[in-house]
Formats: sequence, C-alpha cells, structure tokens
Amino acid sequence: MYVDWEHAHWSAHDIDLSQDMRDWASVAEPQRTLLLFALASLMVAEERISTQFCGLVLAQDGEEEGSFLSSQLVDEVHHMQFYARFQSEVIADPGTIGSHVARAREFLEAPFREIFDGALVSAHDRLVREPRNREAKVDFATTYHMILEGTLGVTTSHFLLGLLRARAILPGFAKGYGLIAADEGRHIAYATQFLGRAVSEQPEMAAVVRKRIQGLLPAVDASLSPAGAEEILGVKPGALLEHGMSALQRRLNVIGVEL
Ligand SMILES: [Fe+2]
Ligand SMILES: [Fe+2]
Repeated sequence: MYVDWEHAHWSAHDIDLSQDMRDWASVAEPQRTLLLFALASLMVAEERISTQFCGLVLAQDGEEEGSFLSSQLVDEVHHMQFYARFQSEVIADPGTIGSHVARAREFLEAPFREIFDGALVSAHDRLVREPRNREAKVDFATTYHMILEGTLGVTTSHFLLGLLRARAILPGFAKGYGLIAADEGRHIAYATQFLGRAVSEQPEMAAVVRKRIQGLLPAVDASLSPAGAEEILGVKPGALLEHGMSALQRRLNVIGVEL
C-alpha cells in the first residue's frame, strides 16, 4: 500500500478549476445549497481528519506500518489543501484555511459535531496518551477509518461524484474528489487489515470495535439523512444510509466483527 501511494501522486494545485468557476456562477437552487453543504462538510471533516491523525503514526507497530501511516497523514493534508483551494478560487471568498473552516462549521449540525468534534478528538487524545495501548488503537481506527472514511466518506463521494458527473458540472472538483476517493480506498484497506489482525490476535478487540460503532450509529444515521438531499440527488428515501451501512457491513465481515 505504501508503494501504491508512491505511484498515486497528484497535485491539488495543478487541477484546472477554470470551468468550475464558470459552472459555480450558474448552479441554481436547490443544488447550490446541497453542494455548499457537502463542500463545507468535506472541508471541516478533512480539517479534523488531518489534525487528529498524528497519534496513529506514533502508535505504529513497525517501520512498514509507520511508512504507510506517514503517507496517509500527508494524503489527509493534501485533501484539505484541495478543498481549501476550491473554496478560495471557485466559491471565491478570500481568507485563510481557518476562516474557511469557521464558515463551513455554520452549515454543520449536531450529529456531525458529535462524530468529528466528540468521538474522533477523544479517541485521538487517548491514543496520543497511550500509543502502546491496543484497545486505544483499535478504537481510533474504528472511529476514523471505519466510521468516518468507510461509512460517511464513501457514501458522500459515491453520491456527490454521481451528481456532478450526471449533471456534467464542476469537472475540476470531480477530478480532485475522485483522486481523493481513490486515496481513501487505500486508507480504509489499511485499517481493514489492521483491525482484522487485531481481532484475530485478541478476540476481545471485537467488542471494542462493536461498542464504538454501536455508539455512533444514531449520529451516522442522522449524518446520512440530510434534509432534502435524497430528493435533489433523485434517489429513494434512505438510499444514503443504506449505501453507508452496507459498505461498513462488508468491512466488518472481513474484520470478523458482528454488530
Ligand atoms: Fe482524506
Ligand atoms: Fe483518509
């Protein structure tokens, strides 16, 4: 997976956003509000994700895992830079990353905050304090890779990329976001391997995974049911939640954890 990363480099600053600037000026409601909500959510999610990750790099079990985790840390910063650039150049509000994130927060709701500001931050703090604690590492990878990336992230990218491609709008964003989604696939694959190994070595780790997921399910449910999104996307009610839960379930089957 590390070698994969070496071959997957792309530049967040080289993607052509000129058509996106023309498209954004003409995107009408209600898609405009949905896109703004999605972009703001991605921005805040990626900021949280890139600032709450060092603990896992420090909790590496060897240099091979450490090499891969260092590459993931760079990926997450890279993703945040792409969203920041998109907001600066296309949505065209001047300011720093910090002010983008502050603005994005206004769009976000309680369940999202519970997951990102609550669960992720506390799981990361614990891992930083106890890098050799297996339970802390399993809990962090469950929160970060299984819930954030493997349930919320894959669902957002599936439906948002589908919408952008079907309407043939924001081609630069779709290109960068597609590259980000490929990076995320590598991150989720790492954690699926790590958690599968952790559970097979210590079967009691299954309960750690299960407890974290069950605790976050109500917030996941609410995050994947944004008001009006299914109508705008033209999908059946509950389609986002169904997509996210089936992605999560597939990975839990590989890891060997039953909910
Ligand atoms: Fe990311
Ligand atoms: Fe990621």
